[in-house]
Amino acid sequence: MEMNLTTNTQQQTTILHLINITRTFDGVKALDSLSFEISKQSITAIIGPNGSGKTTLFNVITKFLKPDTGKVIFKGKNITYLAPYKISNIGIGRTFQTIRIFPQITVMENMLLALEKGRIEGLFYGLNPFIKHSSKELERKAEELLSKVELKDKINEYAGNLSHGQRRLLEIMRAVALNADLYLFDEPTAGVFPEVRIRILTLFKSLKEEGKTIIFVEHNMETVREGAERVIVLDKGKIIADGEPKIALESEKVIEAYFGG
Ligand SMILES: Nc1ncnc2c1ncn2[C@@H]1O[C@H](COP(=O)(O)OP(=O)(O)OP(=O)(O)O)[C@@H](O)[C@H]1O
Ligand SMILES: [Mg+2]
Repeated sequence: MEMNLTTNTQQQTTILHLINITRTFDGVKALDSLSFEISKQSITAIIGPNGSGKTTLFNVITKFLKPDTGKVIFKGKNITYLAPYKISNIGIGRTFQTIRIFPQITVMENMLLALEKGRIEGLFYGLNPFIKHSSKELERKAEELLSKVELKDKINEYAGNLSHGQRRLLEIMRAVALNADLYLFDEPTAGVFPEVRIRILTLFKSLKEEGKTIIFVEHNMETVREGAERVIVLDKGKIIADGEPKIALESEKVIEAYFGG
């Protein structure tokens, strides 16, 4: 059997590979033959004008939507036709453009539900999924996670009483509680104060240090420059720029997509 060393090395560093993804709605191509690879342990921003396909892209990766054509390869496995409920089992976590938390229960209870799910699915680091762990252990983990974004003092607050920024942080930490390998955050910093935005970017960096891979949708160019190592710019479902933010954001096509016509 022939060995191809280049391919082997690539497989080790690529966590996500999209090949020729097209998704059409009523004849309009939301994603148009999209292909790209994401390296393990990296932070990538996805930007693009409204309706350029950013959320559709996340929905295709997380199986909320099936592509018309193309493949999604995650950790070397073809997950194109995986059932949506299995997505967290294989190590993909996400948040939504519109915040999804449980407003009628406390911050702690919101976290415990996520941690419990991670435990059952065997994703919770350090804990054996086959043992019922004491609520104390899970509470300690919840506190540890909430401390990372300075939300620990809100632990007994009803989630519905949190400010917008605090809800975003809670939603993000619920995703983090699943201990996924790849995180997709859809506009995590939308509408939050600069101070909260910094907490979110700091969290992303610390997740990366732990070996995680992050892809986030962003509208604020300053946040992209500060928080992302790479930016992929979409327009009408196609990539119009891809690379280091300071270079990619200056490309003529990007300026044209945002400010032209
Ligand atoms: N479920 C759906 N049914 C019909 N059309 C859809 C659906 N989801 C997305 N679209 C269409 O696909 C295109 C891309 O939408 P998408 O939500 O992916 O854009 P986006 O880049 O996330 O935009 P925004 O910045 O406004 O969030 C748009 O034309 C949108 O109207
Ligand atoms: Mg969107």
